[in-house]
Amino acid sequence: MKHKEITIPYEILDYAELSPEDAALVETARDATNRSYAPYSNFSVGAAILLDNGVTVPGSNQENVAFPSGTCAERSACFYAHARYPEAKFRKIAIAARTADGEFTAVPTAPCGSCRQALLEYEMLAGAPVEILLAGRDSVYRLPSVTSTLPFAFTEF
Ligand code: THU
Repeated sequence: MKHKEITIPYEILDYAELSPEDAALVETARDATNRSYAPYSNFSVGAAILLDNGVTVPGSNQENVAFPSGTCAERSACFYAHARYPEAKFRKIAIAARTADGEFTAVPTAPCGSCRQALLEYEMLAGAPVEILLAGRDSVYRLPSVTSTLPFAFTEF
């Protein structure tokens, strides 16, 4: 028998420690929460994807009265990004979320399993790690790749 472990590295940064590029991406994700359509959960999520062509694509969660018909911020951003710029590679994604009281979550919100799987597709297309910035109220978690968030991912059939 062999024992193995998978660990997920991440860094916690103060806002003042972000590079100008990361700070701008996080700000775009925070701003995108203002265009969330979340009348059922009142949980407003924003995402922003930086492409290698320099374009930043924002997205937000879009809910539906038939709950499964809605979609998360990350998937609205990544599907639009690839539909609009099919040649561009993803470089980074930032995610932020606000609760019903309008405040950003103290603990950064992480992408759900379906969004990790969707983002993994674009990381594979990029052929390089897509960094993830999870923006909380006072700090940002920086993860090195989508792969690191989805151990034992389904990648081929
Ligand atoms: N949501 C996202 O937009 N991203 C996530 O990673 C988790 C959840 C949305 C879906 C739904 O509109 C609301 O947050 C509550 O689950």
